[in-house]
Amino acid sequence: MSHFAIRDGVLYAESVALPAIAEQFGTPAYVYSRASLVASLQEFLEVLDGHPAGRGALVCYAAKANSNLAILNLFARMGAGFDIVSGGELQRVLAAGADPRKVVFSGVGKAAAEMKMALDAGIFCFNIESAPELERLNEIAGHCGRTARVSLRVNPNVDPKTHPYISTGLKEAKFGVAYEGALALYRRAAALPNIDVAGIDCHIGSQLLDPAPFVEALERILALVDQLTAEGIGINHLDLGGGLGIKYKADQAEPTVASYLTPLLDKLTGRGLQVVLEPGRRLVGNAGLLLTRVEFLKPGEGKNFAIIDAAMNDLMRPALYEAWHDIVPVVPRGGATRDYDVVGPVCESGDFLGLARPLNIEPGDLLAVMSAGAYGMAMSSNYNTRPRAVEVMVDGDRVHQIRRRETVAELYAGEQVLPA
Ligand code: LLP
Repeated sequence: MSHFAIRDGVLYAESVALPAIAEQFGTPAYVYSRASLVASLQEFLEVLDGHPAGRGALVCYAAKANSNLAILNLFARMGAGFDIVSGGELQRVLAAGADPRKVVFSGVGKAAAEMKMALDAGIFCFNIESAPELERLNEIAGHCGRTARVSLRVNPNVDPKTHPYISTGLKEAKFGVAYEGALALYRRAAALPNIDVAGIDCHIGSQLLDPAPFVEALERILALVDQLTAEGIGINHLDLGGGLGIKYKADQAEPTVASYLTPLLDKLTGRGLQVVLEPGRRLVGNAGLLLTRVEFLKPGEGKNFAIIDAAMNDLMRPALYEAWHDIVPVVPRGGATRDYDVVGPVCESGDFLGLARPLNIEPGDLLAVMSAGAYGMAMSSNYNTRPRAVEVMVDGDRVHQIRRRETVAELYAGEQVLPA
């Protein structure tokens, strides 16, 4: 069920009409639905709770997908942990009320200072992505008189059949350690004085709509777990990463969380491994939209352009991945449409949010760019000295501003001219 729907000819977020939000907060604006966020995490929790292999599981929301404090806090209140990839994200999740004992730290380039910060915070686990990273962590942990719990992020060499930029589990990826070398690195980890081997981890890619590659990856990982057990290297938890996709078109089908998780949990039954998951997009993607206004219409020879007040700096996914986002009028006019390239004011030909979209619109109309809750605001920039958008969360009939719009002065506040 979507919490964004047309009612009496107007698009609503829960019980709030979007034109009212545009009026109060201006555009472009990211608009999230609290009920939608809660429902998507709840879906994971229920499936896990309802399966013997899923009890005691830890859902670590991948903060990179959308790291607004209000969203992190909402998930923390529901008992979620977090998957972080930087010291910055660690500080963010802690500021949002996260329990550090539910935090896993992924990423190929953890700096010494970031490791120390995470050790001091007492996180659940470091997901180690290379041999030198393991050595560095052992050394830093020694310096602070601590023991670091680790998983090795193993690359199962499975093709997730998704966009190449978001495929991460193939042999040629920069992520994780090669499947073939994993055993040797586990032996090394087990021998290091300041390292505690706690788990095993994999993440094969993002926006997967077919659950089959997850099962394939799990089978490979479990074969490794068996080898480790035979060698006396005990594994307590298995982290399956994130990656479950969402629908980006209203009429598209989308795998349920149960159809993704049940085959995995079935394979884990009786093994006594704690399950850890790192979903990002699935928890937030369809819980947010980008609200924008049409500035000008520019009919052309071969093409018509609709120039809007949001741009690639606000939502980079179409420019970067040729990603599709539905673009819908907030107050649909009905009647004949024209094909428009929906573009922003940024000085780049790649600055589009949608191409050849059939729309019947006039200047001043509001549009909603759908499914923008994940990797939208989180990947936004200030290119062209554009202040980043305001973010609001709708909760029933209330609207909360959860990040105010930036001011231009803030954008150059840290800069300085040379002395005269
Ligand atoms: N765990 C790890 C180690 C990851 O690298 C990622 C995403 C996740 C979890 C969460 O994956 P998700 O459940 O969101 O698929 N910017 C791209 C997506 C990049 C994903 C990067 N890693 C996009 O906009 O499609």
